[in-house]
Amino acid sequence: MLDSLDQKKISEEINTKWLGKEVFYYPVVNSTNVLLKEMAFRGVSSGTLVITDYQQKGKGRYGRKWSAPPRTSLLFSLLFHPNWPSERANWLTMIAALAVSLAIEEYCLLSSQLKWPNDIGITGAKGWRKVGGILQEGHIENGSVRQVIIGIGINVNIGREDLPKVSNSASSLLIEKKRPVLRAPLLGSIMEKLELLYEQAHEGRSPQPLWNERLITVGQHVLIESLGTKASLSGLVEGTEPDGRLLLRDSNGLLHKINAGDVTIVG
Ligand code: BTN
Repeated sequence: MLDSLDQKKISEEINTKWLGKEVFYYPVVNSTNVLLKEMAFRGVSSGTLVITDYQQKGKGRYGRKWSAPPRTSLLFSLLFHPNWPSERANWLTMIAALAVSLAIEEYCLLSSQLKWPNDIGITGAKGWRKVGGILQEGHIENGSVRQVIIGIGINVNIGREDLPKVSNSASSLLIEKKRPVLRAPLLGSIMEKLELLYEQAHEGRSPQPLWNERLITVGQHVLIESLGTKASLSGLVEGTEPDGRLLLRDSNGLLHKINAGDVTIVG
């Protein structure tokens, strides 16, 4: 039995000071990121939450689709105006992924790790499986991160038969926990954690130490592909920088600082 969401139920679960105090729930939208971008243009405030039960044109990274059957997922976007220096542009994705991972552990009692740069997963009997992702969209103006939309998609109650066939590394909280998970309280927990992490980041504290602890990517041999330039690079991940860049040592001993890309763990 799938749970239902509505504006009241969502608001009741969000016990924050400012994040998600303005909630816009819609049963169906094209994409919460696109809708919130339009709303931001019309002037909604920082911290506004747009959430839906179904996206007709959900967006993943690199122009991919993000699709999920109705009422099976948490699909939402948040608006921020951080005015942080541009070197901190990745921090929002980092704190969002951390908040989701921490909330999954606390609310679902599942062990959750992150895959650089934006994937949230569960490490179970079959290894690490992706259950969620972050899509950050925004702009930098005069060296400052002005407006950012953080889109979060989490496979909550998706059955195995409805997961994307192409990926055998995808899973859901239902599959990992072996029972359905209520979405509104999980959302509430994410919002509380994210608000706190945002405030710490706003004071200039990098989320990297906490985030780094959860990264399954560190210490692994990986292949990184940049879908924009079609370039690829492989090597051993030695760690991350405070700004979130990945430190990759190639076979010639050169250290690369990588800002973005698609990671495949090769061993
Ligand atoms: C990824 O590629 O891993 C990121 C997926 C992000 C999906 C979420 S669902 C809510 C928000 N609206 C969108 O269109 N995409 C993001």
